[in-house]
Amino acid sequence: MRKKLAIHGGKPVTKIKFPASHHFGDDDIAAITKVLKKANSHGSKPIEILQRGTERHKFERNFSNLHDSKYGILVNSGTSAINSIYGAINPDPGTEVICTPWTSIGSVSGAIFHGMVPVFADIDETLCIDPIDVESKITNKTRAIVAVHMFGNPCDMNKLIQIAEKYNLFLIEDCTQAHFSKYQNKLVGSIGDIAAWGLSEHQHFTGAGNCGILVTNNTKLYERAFGYSDQALNRADGPFKNYPYVHNFLAQNYNANELAASILNVQFSKAIKNIEKKINHAKNILKQISEIPELIPQKVRNGDKHTYWNMSLILKKNVFNCDANKFAESIVAEGIPFSGPYLGTGKYPLGPINKHPIFTNLDAFGKSKYPFDYKRTRAVDYKLSKCSNGEDLMSRTINFSPLSTLTEENVENTIEAIKKVANFYKK
Ligand SMILES: Cc1ncc(COP(=O)(O)O)c(C=O)c1O
Repeated sequence: MRKKLAIHGGKPVTKIKFPASHHFGDDDIAAITKVLKKANSHGSKPIEILQRGTERHKFERNFSNLHDSKYGILVNSGTSAINSIYGAINPDPGTEVICTPWTSIGSVSGAIFHGMVPVFADIDETLCIDPIDVESKITNKTRAIVAVHMFGNPCDMNKLIQIAEKYNLFLIEDCTQAHFSKYQNKLVGSIGDIAAWGLSEHQHFTGAGNCGILVTNNTKLYERAFGYSDQALNRADGPFKNYPYVHNFLAQNYNANELAASILNVQFSKAIKNIEKKINHAKNILKQISEIPELIPQKVRNGDKHTYWNMSLILKKNVFNCDANKFAESIVAEGIPFSGPYLGTGKYPLGPINKHPIFTNLDAFGKSKYPFDYKRTRAVDYKLSKCSNGEDLMSRTINFSPLSTLTEENVENTIEAIKKVANFYKK
């Protein structure tokens, strides 16, 4: 029997409000208070307390150690961390970076600021970048590949490493959606040349608001990234400490602050536990809806660990009387916070970033088409970029964030709503 959907005036599955994604406790508050008290009592050098202090160093050390990396740099967002990676690579203008277009602009904005041209490659059923398409897009201008571990699902790193080695490219890992995910038992972020994570409020793990971190084992990349993230100045705790106090190259100020770092230190072990809860919620939901084979979960490679920042379901073709947006809206009406295809929902379903105005209008530096036409006979036309497999798969996805803060009742309601909506729209 098909039940009348809430979107059509029926009774919703639940009216209970879903919880916030993160909870800050007395321990977080105590950590901030300690930093502020220390700053007040410190006298003349608060930079060592509020910006480059022990909390920041502790987090950088613990996070990079966990990821088998010699170096870690805490900055103020995931975008800043990735921009610092491009700063570390220091590419020549006109060179290219290959990335999936199903990501945040943060994966490639730093490349454009460095005069690089993003080239978009298709994805496969893992919803991560497809190594075969990556290799087909390599030119003599290519300098780097970005592996975005999509929704928490690891990219095929062995294949990407082989390609990067074959063509002498930097392999950058964007782990912003994939804290503590594992590719074949290795934590993502410990595999490529250099890796970045966002630590913002909507991500798996946060320092209360914006933050980001990068890690690497490559000393040259570390030194330049350190400088790039902090005005290329010498700092007592940095690689240029014996240099004169001068700006050594063009750089940013992406410094994080000690308050955020102090919360990150408190949240670190909680984040690992919370992400396990998310995985359990996602697996529970996926198990309970496995009786609906028309909803296909994002493919996870055998031996990989998906951490489910987002749980994505692909609607089988020609089975439902509605598209993914309508399906997701119907679940929302049942009281469950689902969304339609990534990126862009509701009135703005633009989808992959190659369709966003920055690329369709080549709108980066004034009236010029720089860098998209730099040393080229004509500017790159992103309207021609073809990622047809991804277009097809992603346009059929519905998405849900299985937050660690969900109660058993929230999870049960989610399962019930998915089943109710699927049953209603099934042809
Ligand atoms: C894959 C990916 N990369 C980069 C970013 C940018 O991170 P931030 O918002 O911390 O700057 C995001 C943001 O969600 C992201 O999802």
